[in-house]
This record gives sequence, structure tokens and C-alpha cells, in this order.
Amino acid sequence: MSSAKKIKRIAVLTSGGDCAGMNTALRSVVRTAIYYGIKPFAVMYGYKGLIEDDFVEFNRRSVSNIMNRGGTVIKTARSEEFKNKKGRLKAVENLKKRKIDGLIVIGGNGSFKGAHLLCAESDIRCIGVPGTIDNDINGTDYCIGSITAVGVALDAIDKIRDTVTSLERIFVVEVMGRECGYIAMRVALAGGAEEVLLPEVKPDFKKICREIRSAHKKGKVSWILVVAEGAGHGHKVAHDIEKMTGYETRVIVLGHIQRGGAPNAIDRILASRLGSSAVTSLIKGESDKMVGIIANKAMLTDFSKACKKKQETDQKLYRLLKILEA
Ligand code: F6P
Repeated sequence: MSSAKKIKRIAVLTSGGDCAGMNTALRSVVRTAIYYGIKPFAVMYGYKGLIEDDFVEFNRRSVSNIMNRGGTVIKTARSEEFKNKKGRLKAVENLKKRKIDGLIVIGGNGSFKGAHLLCAESDIRCIGVPGTIDNDINGTDYCIGSITAVGVALDAIDKIRDTVTSLERIFVVEVMGRECGYIAMRVALAGGAEEVLLPEVKPDFKKICREIRSAHKKGKVSWILVVAEGAGHGHKVAHDIEKMTGYETRVIVLGHIQRGGAPNAIDRILASRLGSSAVTSLIKGESDKMVGIIANKAMLTDFSKACKKKQETDQKLYRLLKILEA
């Protein structure tokens, strides 16, 4: 790809649901770009800012002291306008006006679908950096923010266990993840939960309730059941368990706290690697692709493939959870 037009100016944005590590990736993009003599621009509020012409020229210092901060300092948004061709054409116009020839999108699969259309409709080169707690993107073992999110949820489960065992109750914990059971499976195993409901596996609810009743008779009176939001609503699950077992059941929906907090060391390293790889991929002339890390190697995957539904197929983890329960 050495014949590709030399990149002189790039823009970077964060889009969709924020996650820990987006700032670290931003810092890496900006500083790698400057290292290679490229002028970086940050776009505020994701695609919304791209359409509304909200650009800020960044320097090395613009990204000082952000790598350890949660959220995204350049803000994010879910843009309805960018889903329409008219909005995307406006975005391209704003990029062209500034002679920007490369765009880096830090976000999840909704953001990459938009980036894929932008590539098809213009000559702007675009590379994606996977940043979402859901870890539902193909072409990378981990998305930035997902490991930190598991840590945040785990911290909550550890605390919930204190009250679960003290009051001898059943507790349903609903975690995020959209249609992917990644957070639920990891947090259930790491938190020693008795059961997990995943979107990828149809649950045998009656069997679960039978297990709870029979365990109760043998003296196992406290239970934690983790529910992925894509597998059901925590409140409904808790209501049904209480109805079917007769045991007092409480519910907690962990919600947006899972998106917050400082990125852990693994996410900071991942974000630093992926942000830098995105810039070098643009320099090499790559476009319409996402950078990911598979088995510790940086890889590129077409946006169209990256956005396809990812299955949480790690049944081994589920079997292990059942082997390890009391
Ligand atoms: O994609 C990240 C995520 O946190 C999902 O896990 C969740 O379903 C969704 O975003 C929540 O979106 P919002 O912040 O728009 O309510």
C-alpha cells in the first residue's frame, strides 16, 4: 500500500456508549500522529460534531493527564443524523474543508456501521478502534473498556455477596452487554455466582428453580444469579424466581456504573496499542477496517465483518462455573 496518498491531517472522534480507556486511545492517536508528522484534529461529540463542524486542533499537550480518566474528554453521542446519507455528506464536506484525509473512530459496532458507509460514499480513509464494554465486536479478543467493566461489576458482586450471605437470600444481578453475554459470563465466574443467564444460551428456568429449591433443602440458602441484559430483565427474573421457589429474592441492576471508572492497566495498554496501530494503518493506506488484537497480535478486520453479531461461545467457562459452585 506504499502508493497510497500521504496522510497529512487526521481527525479522531469517540462515538456511542463511552467506556474506560477511550481517553487513553485518544492520547495514543494524537501522539502517534504527531510523531509521524501528521496534524491531528479532535471532533467533539462523535458523529454529531462531525456534522456540526465541531473540530479542535490538538497538540501533544492537549492529551496530557487523560490516560487514567474514565469517559471521554472529547465527549460522545449517538447520532441519528449520521444514519442518513445527508448527514454523512455534511460530515464529509466538513472533513474536506479542513483537508483531512483520514478519520479514526473509537467506538462500538453501531459506530463502525456508520464509518463503513462513510468509506463507501467518500474517499476519506477511515479506521476503527474498538471501544465498548460489551466486547461484542469481531476481529479483536478484547474491546477497550470491557475488562475494566468486568472489574467494576465484580467489585459490586463482591459487596452484594456480603449481604446475600448475611441475610441468606437469593440475589439477581443484571449486568450490561446488549446482545452479548461477555460481561455476565466473566463476572459470574470471577464472582463465584451460582448461575448465569446469557443471551446466547436459552435458559432452562424451571430447572434453575428446581436446583435452588433442592440446594436450599440441603442447607445452601444464598444464591447469586447473574443476568445479562440481553437474556432478560433482572426484575422479571427475580419476580419469577420468588414465585416459583417461594424464597425471598432481591434484584440489582448495575447499569451505567459499569461504564465508568479509570481504565485498568490492561485496558490502558490495549488502548495505547490500538490507537497507535490505527494511525499507522492509515499511513499504510488502509481504510474501511478496524484494528484489533488477536492472540497478542495487532490485526485488521473489515468493518463489515467486525460489525456482524458476535457470539459468546465460551461454553467452557459456563461448565467451569457449574463445576466450581458449592
Ligand atoms: O453499548 C454499551 C452499553 O452500555 C450497553 O451495554 C447498554 O445496553 C447501552 O450501552 C446503554 O446505552 P445508553 O447509555 O444509551 O442507555
